Amino acid sequence: MQTIFSGIQPSGSVTLGNYIGAMKQFVELQNDYNCYFCIVDQHSITVPQNPVELRKNIKSLAALYLAVGLDPNKATLFIQSEVPAHAQAGWMLQCVSYIGELERMTQFKDKSHGKEAVVAGLLTYPPLMAGDILLYNTDLVPVGEDQKQHIELTRDIAERFNKKYREIFTIPDARIPKDGARIMSLTEPTKKMSKSDPNQKAFITLLDDPKQIEKKLKSAVTDSEGIVTYDKENRPGISNLLTIYSALSNQSIQEIESQYQGKGYGEFKADLAEVVLKELLPIQEKYNEIINSPKLDEILDAGAEKANKVASKTVKKMESAMGLGRKRK
Ligand code: TYM
Repeated sequence: MQTIFSGIQPSGSVTLGNYIGAMKQFVELQNDYNCYFCIVDQHSITVPQNPVELRKNIKSLAALYLAVGLDPNKATLFIQSEVPAHAQAGWMLQCVSYIGELERMTQFKDKSHGKEAVVAGLLTYPPLMAGDILLYNTDLVPVGEDQKQHIELTRDIAERFNKKYREIFTIPDARIPKDGARIMSLTEPTKKMSKSDPNQKAFITLLDDPKQIEKKLKSAVTDSEGIVTYDKENRPGISNLLTIYSALSNQSIQEIESQYQGKGYGEFKADLAEVVLKELLPIQEKYNEIINSPKLDEILDAGAEKANKVASKTVKKMESAMGLGRKRK
């Protein structure tokens, strides 16, 4: 059985972009693959975090993993910092990464642009991510479009390590959904929907109140044409809303277009709100049941234990390949 690894940062709320681009895939994949889904808290501290909030967000993301339908009997769910192999592998892989290639990463450029003091972790983020993936002999990494460059770098780093030391890593492939790999901001639809957007109206989170969701969709930026058809280049706003509708209703964009022929944006947006709520309300209900349950800790403990077994073996192989430590019987 092939192995899947993916992670989400517990930095703030989980958006509809995270859900459509990543989480929804996780749920489908758990039946057919050996899956690891991680809460990558160590990646989160590459930008400033409030420690109290971060701990809350970690728990919240764990509850959301379950609420969207991940089953701990099928997939291993765990927190990155609870499996020390991630930091260990991250360090070793930093030592086979070049500063030049790390500086070329779009995410690094975006997050460091115009900042006076940039922490080193923001630059060395990709080798830590490579470690996440490579520790589990991962075949496939389900992610949104924005992570493609990091997966390509992971492949380069893995190939370099295999060549320089010993063939220990499987070379992973990104698995990017055909539709919904890049959900755009509701207020500036040429920009990616992001949880760090200072404008709350730009994104919908999985835990938004239904009234807020309706409001945000109603005020989503479109254009003055008033025709519900897809044209990403020239009419990114309506095209993004069509993508969201399609991803959540499992209807094709063409089907939706013909359903709204002769109808305006108002009616379309009201129906879209219904589609979004139909998906999110059961998730919110389940989230509220789980968030304070002691079962959540049990699941995360078991997940960390299982991940630790696999990952610590890979770290030993890496250390031995690189000549670190001593040989032991
Ligand atoms: P993060 O936490 O920013 O996002 C989590 C996942 O959501 C996807 N995503 C989107 N998809 C569609 N439209 C959007 N607007 C959108 N915004 C986010 C992301 O592509 C991602 O799949 N570096 C990663 C976390 C990570 C990771 C890993 C992922 C660390 N280690 C190992 C995979 C494997 C990140 O920052 O994702």
